[in-house]
Amino acid sequence: MSIVYLNGAFIAPEDAKISVMDRAFLFADGIYEVIPIYQGKLFRLTEHLRRLAYSLEHIRLASPHTDAQWEALFNALIQQNGGGNLSLYLQITRGCAPTRDHAFPKVPVEPTIFMMVNPMPTPYSTDLNREQGIKAICLSDIRWLRCDIKSVSLLPNALLRQQALDQGVDEAILIRDDLVTEGAASNIFIVANNALYTPPRSPFILGGITRDLVIELAQAHQLTCVEKSLTQAELMAADEVWMTSSTKEIAPITQVDGKPIGNGKVGAVWRKVAGWYNAYKQTLLNP
Ligand SMILES: Cc1ncc(COP(=O)(O)O)c(C=O)c1O
Repeated sequence: MSIVYLNGAFIAPEDAKISVMDRAFLFADGIYEVIPIYQGKLFRLTEHLRRLAYSLEHIRLASPHTDAQWEALFNALIQQNGGGNLSLYLQITRGCAPTRDHAFPKVPVEPTIFMMVNPMPTPYSTDLNREQGIKAICLSDIRWLRCDIKSVSLLPNALLRQQALDQGVDEAILIRDDLVTEGAASNIFIVANNALYTPPRSPFILGGITRDLVIELAQAHQLTCVEKSLTQAELMAADEVWMTSSTKEIAPITQVDGKPIGNGKVGAVWRKVAGWYNAYKQTLLNP
């Protein structure tokens, strides 16, 4: 049975209860992080802690812990759950005020801190010889203008992902003013003429930790990678399209809106970069 963390206690999930007055329940007033864990080890922890601090700062909530305290808490939860390959979910909310009021509580309240771990799905890069990628559709980006904050307000993302699933595909690629922003729960890369392209950081996208690592790996291996706005036409004309996220790593997308991307098969550049990603992961496991 898994063990979760709530406000200082390591407990069974069914014992983890929060008040209906919690501001995340009433206003989605909270942020979250998802950190991948390989063989019990936290992956890209520094980068995840940096983004956590960014999200907290931008919703004007003081971090309840130092980085060292967070790391100790994460490791304690991993240990309680026996290690292995996991994804760690952390949520911090503005806590419970006595009345429902849009304004922040006048008398400071304790934030709510919740953590759980889930088994990591098998990443696509475990089979570099695969021929088939995943399918996606393009949908209008109906989200707010601060997608750079990892907010728990995910109703638009959930509606978009469900619309994709209802149409028999795996992910929604979001379009704002004819430009690709990101996936419903991922960042997007394209390959054209053997170079990588991904939309630049902006309030319209989440600064993905996996995205940044792909850019870093490309630079380290002298593969051209350009951060620039991409039109829907450029996406459709690409040789390859990928989505990246902490739990999916780098996933090749071989069909968008029912049309093949490139030759409709997983591409050579994905194989190369996914291989670099696998090798990078090994440096965590065998430092
Ligand atoms: C909207 C959105 N964009 C991008 C990402 C990818 O971010 P990361 O690579 O840090 O997991 C996610 C991850 O869940 C996401 O929800």
